[in-house]
Amino acid sequence: MNPNQALWEKGDFTRIAQSMRDSGEALVKSLGIRRGMKVLDLGCGDGTTALPAARFGAEVLGVDIARNLVEAARRRASDQGLTNCKFQQGDASNLQDLQDRSFDLVVSIFGAMFAPRPNDVAKEMVRVTRAGGRIVMGNWIPNDPTLVAQILKISASYSPPPPEGFVSPMLWGVEKELIARFTAAGVPKENISCERDTYTFNFPDAPSRLVDAFRKYYGPTMNAFEAADKNGRAADLQKELDALFDSQNRSETKNTTSIPATYLRVTVTVN
Ligand SMILES: C[S@@+](CC[C@H](N)C(=O)[O-])C[C@H]1O[C@@H](n2cnc3c(N)ncnc32)[C@H](O)[C@@H]1O
Repeated sequence: MNPNQALWEKGDFTRIAQSMRDSGEALVKSLGIRRGMKVLDLGCGDGTTALPAARFGAEVLGVDIARNLVEAARRRASDQGLTNCKFQQGDASNLQDLQDRSFDLVVSIFGAMFAPRPNDVAKEMVRVTRAGGRIVMGNWIPNDPTLVAQILKISASYSPPPPEGFVSPMLWGVEKELIARFTAAGVPKENISCERDTYTFNFPDAPSRLVDAFRKYYGPTMNAFEAADKNGRAADLQKELDALFDSQNRSETKNTTSIPATYLRVTVTVN
């Protein structure tokens, strides 16, 4: 199986996504979504942003590489009585089933950044956006001191080196890189803007329990623990992650977790 798909089907991202709903709702609220708008959510997971977009009346299609997450998103939409929200499996670097210029808004929050072949991802996002439409991406930033960049950095330091030719997903968090990708896809530089924003992980238990969720259900951390286990370093990895989550927890209530994480919010207008 495609290793990118295997990574995300390995765990169960729904367990992490449950801590990201508040920020997902807030982000969607800021997008100016109107009734009838056609929205594509790429790397939609279990629908953290797709479902709120549908609640605003958009016609939403969520695409994700992981079949378990597509199923989970369908279940959540059905439980919430949303009929204007469809989900299908697909790869952000090859959206062959989707027509040119067919969406008013393409959203990808920490989703398409994980697809291989980033130049193809940029091309596909631009291709399916209608003239005058927008692409909005949320991308983690390499070496940022906040939660997710640090989890990925720590996890990578316990994992075997990636295969040759592997392009780090974190490069989507570097302005120069992402501008090069979108300009290569035909977007003028002045149509691309970037700002730092915050996503908060809210979890109804202690930070160490959230670390457990990442250890059990988040593909990149699961892989890091498997590799660390083989080298007898799992306890060190656990200790580093516990310290990270503890030090970043801003909740003032005992046994609850609230950790803000900085990301790069990218907006691209397509002519
Ligand atoms: C960190 S999760 C974010 C999910 C969702 N956007 C959210 O905000 O909760 C990354 C998602 O990207 C998906 N993904 C990874 N590679 C992909 C690809 N090549 N094409 C489509 N989706 C992909 C994963 O399956 C996973 O659902």
